[in-house]
Amino acid sequence: MKNVLIVYYTQSGQLEEIARNIAKPLLQDPEVSVTFFNIEMVKPFPFPWKPAQFFDVFPESFLQIPSEIQNPSQDILEQKYDLIILAYQVWYLSPSIPITSFLKSEFGKRLLNNTPVVTVIGCRNMWALAQEKVKKLLKEVNANLVGNIALVDRHINHISVITIVEWMFTGKKEKYLGIFPKPGVSDDEIIGSTKFGNIILNYLKKDSYTNMQAELVANDAVEIRPFLIEMDKKANKMFKIWANTVIKKTNSRPNWLKGFYVYLLIAIWIMSPIVYILHLLTFPLKYARIKKEKKYYKGV
Ligand SMILES: Cc1cc2nc3c(=O)[nH]c(=O)nc-3n(C[C@H](O)[C@H](O)[C@H](O)COP(=O)(O)O)c2cc1C
Repeated sequence: MKNVLIVYYTQSGQLEEIARNIAKPLLQDPEVSVTFFNIEMVKPFPFPWKPAQFFDVFPESFLQIPSEIQNPSQDILEQKYDLIILAYQVWYLSPSIPITSFLKSEFGKRLLNNTPVVTVIGCRNMWALAQEKVKKLLKEVNANLVGNIALVDRHINHISVITIVEWMFTGKKEKYLGIFPKPGVSDDEIIGSTKFGNIILNYLKKDSYTNMQAELVANDAVEIRPFLIEMDKKANKMFKIWANTVIKKTNSRPNWLKGFYVYLLIAIWIMSPIVYILHLLTFPLKYARIKKEKKYYKGV
């Protein structure tokens, strides 16, 4: 018998849908026992978000400051798992606060210790450096990352900015104004993610995850867009300055967050198109580096 724990957090239900579709083949196998752990905050985050609340979680998300989460049941705490599937979303280029909180919790550390982990990301499209932060946290708790699946909004970057913000502020995963595409991970990809469950099941039974990531990637588990990696790196540098500044401003925090909002508008709508043009112009010069990076971020 193999025991699998699926840990997830979700606000809209998207991450849970993804996790449950991946879990299907595991649930159908009589030799596999699957347990779900839905991370719940002691003080829940709002959904839909109000703009001020949405920006207010920026410093703590980015600086990976944990909040209190509800303990899992005693059954979960006492079980040693053969595999943990960790389904998470990205908040401000970092793992969301609920996921950081799980990874830094005492019981999270105990569950993850010496255990193979498959990460499953469901986000807008900027996850690569968040995954580096998750890798570091997993290493710190002696977990063994064996696979990664990253599901994103495949639409043009700026379109997904508009539609995801609308989704987050209304709570409705719908076509904005009837003309924009539906936000987030597409329904087809969510349903199609069962194929990843079949791959994971195969390796779980073999008790070896050698080549699993290559097989996941061959089945479109990870797509790398070099421009997004470039933006992710640049934005991480700026976010670090902003987060470290805002966190110290206890009295004037709302005003600083308004400043951060203006910075974001400028970064997304003015700076990023310029960086994109420069990226295209210098692409041939960076070709070797980009190829190497693509290989790296597709791996685990
Ligand atoms: C506060 C906040 C910040 C976010 N920042 C990012 C981000 O930096 N990169 C990204 O790709 N998606 C980002 N997203 C989108 C989420 O990763 C995710 O796709 C969305 O919240 C839906 O997840 P859910 O399953 O919790 O509903 C952000 C969402 C929220 C609420």
